[in-house]
Amino acid sequence: MTQHQIQSLTLTRPDDWHLHLRDGAMLQAVLPETARDFGRAIIMPNLVPPVVTGAQAAAYRDRILAALPEGMVFEPLMTLYLTEDTDPADVAAAHASGLVKAVKLYPAGATTNSSSGVSNFDNVRPVLEKMAEIGLPLCTHGEVTDHDIDIFDREAVFIDRVLDPIRRATPGLRVVMEHITTKNAADYVASQDQDLGATITTHHLIINRNHILVGGIKPHYYCLPVAKREEHRLALRAAATSGDARYFLGTDSAPHVDAAKESGCGCAGCFTATNTMPLLAHVFEEEGKLENLEKFASQNGPAFYRLPENPDQITLVKSESATQFPAKIASDDGPVTLFDPGYPIYWSVA
Ligand code: NCD
Ligand code: ZN
Repeated sequence: MTQHQIQSLTLTRPDDWHLHLRDGAMLQAVLPETARDFGRAIIMPNLVPPVVTGAQAAAYRDRILAALPEGMVFEPLMTLYLTEDTDPADVAAAHASGLVKAVKLYPAGATTNSSSGVSNFDNVRPVLEKMAEIGLPLCTHGEVTDHDIDIFDREAVFIDRVLDPIRRATPGLRVVMEHITTKNAADYVASQDQDLGATITTHHLIINRNHILVGGIKPHYYCLPVAKREEHRLALRAAATSGDARYFLGTDSAPHVDAAKESGCGCAGCFTATNTMPLLAHVFEEEGKLENLEKFASQNGPAFYRLPENPDQITLVKSESATQFPAKIASDDGPVTLFDPGYPIYWSVA
């Protein structure tokens, strides 16, 4: 069977290895959008205030489970927000209890709600060493924040100035480079051992920086790290569809109400929870690699995190007519616009 004849694809239920669920009314609105298709997700801790301690992560996990609609099954995989005051013993206890699956490093000021992040990396050395010892992965928002570094170069500079030195200084530390956006990052991952993995978002496989800026500014395509040149998008496509175990799906689905996006100072984040799996089927089919979608979305992530794959499956089907996705998801805080690839998608989740 050639690829264009495949009309249905059944795969192990996918997971999302980088997700923003927020809290309160927004959590209520967006959680079903993920739980419909995904079995688990790594939950980002950048609430206001951030989820720093094991006790805060346990309370957040309870709020997520309380917001889960009756009949839906979903497991939130909790993370701790790394600060310069983080206590290594608290991290170790939260890991030992099974509650926490990763610690998240935000360079201070790098992105939405990152002001409590790390400025002086020497101050988090004891935590990183404890994590290496117990095998707890570090998830990194990989951008430097120096004002003299161009925003389009911030990921590549982070690898040289921050990430590679941290990894050399901390043998055995397992790291996920999250939402990579450059060929530099994909190449760095490929050059390293299995202690380094990377997540790739849905939207960075679809848009480049022209989509944000040509023909008028498109706030719903603005996220951090910002989409780069076309050559980088193509490198990400090659990495994601390769089947290589080090690359896996992290949507970085990051809901913001329209009023906050469509503004004189619009905030960063694309909301892709609702249509990610159909969009990925489209991308993998375009690349002639549909057979590797299950690795990227359902198998490589659990293998990196040393967790079992989900026990059940989902089926993607391709129709003659374009799938109708909602333009917006309603929340009691206001509407959230769904990421629009800009072309019709014929895949849907059965
Ligand atoms: C994220 C958010 O809104 O919380 N925004 C984004 O553009 N991706 C934060 C992040 O992951 O950088
Ligand atoms: Zn994110």
